[in-house]
Amino acid sequence: MKNIDSYTLRNMWTKFYSEKGHTVISSASLIPENDPTVLFTTAGMHPLVPYLLGAKHPGGTRLADVQKCVRTGDIDEVGDASHCTFFEMLGNWSLGDYFKKEQIAWSYEFLTSPEYLDIDPDRLAVTVFAGDEDCPRDEESAKLWMECGIKKEHIFYLPKSNNWWGPAGITGPCGPDSEMFFISDVKDCSDSCGPDCDCGKYLEIWNDVFMQYNKTADGKFEPLKQKNVDTGMGLERTLCILQGKKSVYDTDIFVPIMAKIRSLAAVSDIKAERIIADHIRTSVFIIGDERGVTCSNVDQGYILRRLLRRAIRFGRQLELASGALVEIAKTVIDIYKDVYPELVAASTKILDEISAEEERFEKTLATGIKEFEKLVFYQKGDTISGKAAFRLYETYGFPVEMTVELAREKGLKVDTDGFHEAYREHQQKSHTGAEQKFKGGLADHTETITKLHTATHLLHTALKRVLNDPDVNQKGSNITEERLRFDFTFGRALTEEEIAAVEAKVNEAIAADVPVVCEEMTVDEARKQGAIGLFASKYGERVKVYTMGTYSKEICGGPHASRTGDLGKFRIIKEQSSGAGVRRIKAVLE
Ligand code: SER
Repeated sequence: MKNIDSYTLRNMWTKFYSEKGHTVISSASLIPENDPTVLFTTAGMHPLVPYLLGAKHPGGTRLADVQKCVRTGDIDEVGDASHCTFFEMLGNWSLGDYFKKEQIAWSYEFLTSPEYLDIDPDRLAVTVFAGDEDCPRDEESAKLWMECGIKKEHIFYLPKSNNWWGPAGITGPCGPDSEMFFISDVKDCSDSCGPDCDCGKYLEIWNDVFMQYNKTADGKFEPLKQKNVDTGMGLERTLCILQGKKSVYDTDIFVPIMAKIRSLAAVSDIKAERIIADHIRTSVFIIGDERGVTCSNVDQGYILRRLLRRAIRFGRQLELASGALVEIAKTVIDIYKDVYPELVAASTKILDEISAEEERFEKTLATGIKEFEKLVFYQKGDTISGKAAFRLYETYGFPVEMTVELAREKGLKVDTDGFHEAYREHQQKSHTGAEQKFKGGLADHTETITKLHTATHLLHTALKRVLNDPDVNQKGSNITEERLRFDFTFGRALTEEEIAAVEAKVNEAIAADVPVVCEEMTVDEARKQGAIGLFASKYGERVKVYTMGTYSKEICGGPHASRTGDLGKFRIIKEQSSGAGVRRIKAVLE
């Protein structure tokens, strides 16, 4: 096995695939263009969806790249050995060109050839699709792997939950996949230990997707016009294996970031260090992207704010001085300067935004700290009640972790169970997206923005119903203090009657004053319930579904008003074109 660094691995990948006739394309933006199904590019195939569906790509039918990706579904897992919210995906594609035979032979070659990764074939295991009513058992791939030299006992048949790549959105190109794993030195955890087990014995390296279906809105799998291959290898995880490390944070990409954090910290805590390293790295890429965003309370800006505020919070744990995050961000930019020069070009913007958010959060915290001091002054006994901690959270946006931390300094405890109970009670009463605020430590969603966000959901469904066209779908949404702006697919201008009918439908939902109920479920469950809207993930990611009576059911991160009756009167102020086949509505609440 070759112990190589990140530069060498990226270069090896592109060299290998160019020699096999592929055009190497550059990474697409992290912020998907005109795609309402996800907030960030989550896999290399995502920007290529139109081509997987048959559009002609200027680079031809064989493509390869290294794609920047962000996935925040597992944000709470960050801090362990392998989870990251940003990662690079090495990918190659056949757009109706080669299929299983070539791809499996090349995968084997790249993994085992002395010229490339030089992994001992006996240390490799693969999985193939076990078959079901939508698609047959993949004996063909199993046979091809065996012909290459993979041991029969290292081939595992797994069901759709493991060996199927779903669409980036709810509909789209998909198919069975075959995953490759490195078998590490640890013992089997049980008799049934295999690649579907996450005990650490089998480490996933690469995924070959044989994309031959299009999943339609009614859940059917129709054969695609062309059979595609979509593969993805996680750069960080592969480096971890090749470099013989126990954690991605010990690979060449992270070593300088971790060293910087340690040099600035007064206290050491591996989990906090990893969280800061991960969140600052992701924030640098989000702000520094060609379509980079800054902090806000909606969409990508909301995720960025959440990442930065978590980093600040964990920074306090390490006693980082203010301004330290900017220094860490400089190290991140430096590591990637040759691979992603856009970060260097945007460095002022990146550093300014991180400082500005730090200041904003400090202000929120300063008010909360004053209140905390008062609380301590009147405190009897050694445990701060859950209710009091909740009041600090609810009124001042003060994260409970902060309360615990400050209490500890005063020799006090916090009844965190009581906090969660008060929190749940409040949530049941208000049905707001409070949990989102809690997780991100956000305090400054304005009421207006929250209400406009709720109105956007009502508008989305009202448009679908009034225009009675299943192809009416969200293309984009932007909310300011003054108005909402909603882009959707529709081929012509709306008539005055249609505009009035849409307004009336939204106002009908407002007049009904139904509660806005938030539930968490898997994407599959949401789809079954007929929810519209964003997000899907291969890994069974759970999503939030907001339901407003019979007026709306939509996947969304929140936050939202408690009841539709809180919104006021809805009025459309403008309806106009926003590009071919896309209309734009601006509306206000009065
Ligand atoms: N789309 C597949 C994945 O992300 C292969 O690229 O795993």
